[in-house]
Amino acid sequence: MKKYVIAIDGPAASGKSTTAKMLARKLSYIYIDSGAMYRACGLRALQQNVDLTDRIALAEMLKDIKIEITYSEKGNRVILNGTDVTDRIREADITRLSSQIAVIDIVRQKMVELQREMGKNGGVIMDGRDIGTVVFPQADFKFFMIAEVKTRALRRWKEAIDKGEELLLSQIENDLNWRDKNDSNRRISPLKKADDAIEIDTSRMSITEQTEFIYKIIRESENEN
Ligand code: DC
Repeated sequence: MKKYVIAIDGPAASGKSTTAKMLARKLSYIYIDSGAMYRACGLRALQQNVDLTDRIALAEMLKDIKIEITYSEKGNRVILNGTDVTDRIREADITRLSSQIAVIDIVRQKMVELQREMGKNGGVIMDGRDIGTVVFPQADFKFFMIAEVKTRALRRWKEAIDKGEELLLSQIENDLNWRDKNDSNRRISPLKKADDAIEIDTSRMSITEQTEFIYKIIRESENEN
């Protein structure tokens, strides 16, 4: 069976990563979270005290950056220059920084290069903002997930509760709105649905329903070919 490239884009907390992970397990594919790579980049800049407006320092940083994603049943780990940063990159300061660093052209060039390399053999599901438009415009399947901001905020709030963190729902909603705006209004590779992507509104769907919806489309297309 052909090993497809499946692109899933959409705003933060639209259900992309949970669906992509579940789908990867069902198809025995590799899941690549491209957002984690921008987060790792943001963390590297913070660690090295790199000013985001200093292009020379940024270029130096990008020359030495090593981002690896290791795959395991228990979930992928993100390794930044030899250190496991999986948990650190989910913290609020890095969430904001990742969106800020993602507007910079040389950062995006480097990340896109790494992402294409990771996906070149197919059998991958990659989620992000520009996977269907820029990273893999020839992807075999493209999906664009959306959901109402209130639903997305509630999802993040519940995730935080599960981790023992208490966050204000209104603060999460504000942060999501800020990131949506920053990710959609940037000049290079903004968050945008590819013309040939299938849009899925997950506001009233469960993770299983989202996964099954995509899985069915892939299986049906195989039967047609
Ligand atoms: O998916 P995420 O929330 O982990 O992504 C973190 C940030 O990285 C997001 O605010 C925008 C940026 N990003 C991007 O610009 N392009 C991608 N393909 C993935 C993420």
